[in-house]
Amino acid sequence: MAFVVAVAQRKGGAGKSTVAANLAVALVASGTRTILLDTDPQATLTRWHGLRGATAQPLPFENPSGWRLPQAVARLRNAMDFIILDTPPHADTDSRIAMRAADLILIPLQPSVADLWAMEGTLEVAAAERRPVALMLNRVPAQGRAAQEVAETLVQRKLPLLPAPFGNRTAFAAAFAEGLGAIEYAPRGQAAAEARALAEAIRSESA
Ligand SMILES: Nc1ncnc2c1ncn2[C@@H]1O[C@H](COP(=O)(O)OP(=O)(O)O)[C@@H](O)[C@H]1O
Ligand SMILES: [Mg+2]
Repeated sequence: MAFVVAVAQRKGGAGKSTVAANLAVALVASGTRTILLDTDPQATLTRWHGLRGATAQPLPFENPSGWRLPQAVARLRNAMDFIILDTPPHADTDSRIAMRAADLILIPLQPSVADLWAMEGTLEVAAAERRPVALMLNRVPAQGRAAQEVAETLVQRKLPLLPAPFGNRTAFAAAFAEGLGAIEYAPRGQAAAEARALAEAIRSESA
């Protein structure tokens, strides 16, 4: 039975598509049967996937529309270990359908007040749908205490923060522009190490 992860966060630009793509690529590379589903009408990952060249590792991919998503997940559940869903940047019907289909809602947030506020809306939908959440910090700056402060806020509120942040790294953006994950673009880089750590954290969550 597949473990279904919806990457969701009300705010656009939080890093949902970057996280979903890098997670899926790293899970495939670690030998799991993983498929990435783009449920965002903006089709960011559909374009990204279309850029993947012949040398990139094969990455199962589909882009079901919102109302077809439950059927797609039901069809794929037995054939896969992980189903990763990228979701639209709103608390709209499509993102709610994706969250409902998930075993875990992964909420990326940048260490900013705006992202913390946007997280509340995502947490409310997760609670309404009775779905567990895990948070991860994205675009953590190399300097400063912002990430530490956000992490402390989350711990105080007993919200589960994965020990797998992504730094603010050009490799994530550069890899994305070529249809790749960081582990394919610069396998020895720090972004690659962070993507592998996130895949490990999600494997632990699924166990
Ligand atoms: N960890 C990161 N380091 C550097 N750039 C990032 C990182 N995460 C996201 N970005 C950049 O931020 C922008 C928004 O990211 P994206 O994944 O499209 O967010 P969302 O899907 O939530 O709207 C993109 O330009 C992306 O390249
Ligand atoms: Mg996106």
